[in-house]
Amino acid sequence: MALVYIEQVEEMNLEQMQKTHEDEIEILNAIDKLAIYHERGEATEEELVAKIDEYIEHVHQHFASEENLMQKYDFPKYDMHKTAHDMFLEELDHAIKYWKRYEDITKITNFIRRTPEWIVLHVNTVDLPTSTYLAKKMEQEKEL
Ligand SMILES: [Fe+2]
Ligand SMILES: [Fe+2]
Repeated sequence: MALVYIEQVEEMNLEQMQKTHEDEIEILNAIDKLAIYHERGEATEEELVAKIDEYIEHVHQHFASEENLMQKYDFPKYDMHKTAHDMFLEELDHAIKYWKRYEDITKITNFIRRTPEWIVLHVNTVDLPTSTYLAKKMEQEKEL
């Protein structure tokens, strides 16, 4: 069983947002699997850390690219959407700090395993209306 399924998130009206969400779900499921293998001694900590680093990088790029698009197309609820991203990144930073301070990888894997709840809710309630707005704006831009 996977940690999170693509079917749980609404499909975006914007291909690049959809692709980012699909990639993020793939990384989350890979981390969950690697964490299980690591607990069983079937995967090294380095392999798990490499995936976690990939996830951290991906999340930052994911949010930054949405924020750039929102700014480019004057999304009216930019501040609300950006605040939601920033709050998540703060929690992520917190988990990273604990992981490093106590040299305990479960501090970050436990956090990551709880994130699908946030992501599914965020994508379905915040990203969806944003992608609808952006897709419309891009369409209008083409017609000009
Ligand atoms: Fe998103
Ligand atoms: Fe978002």
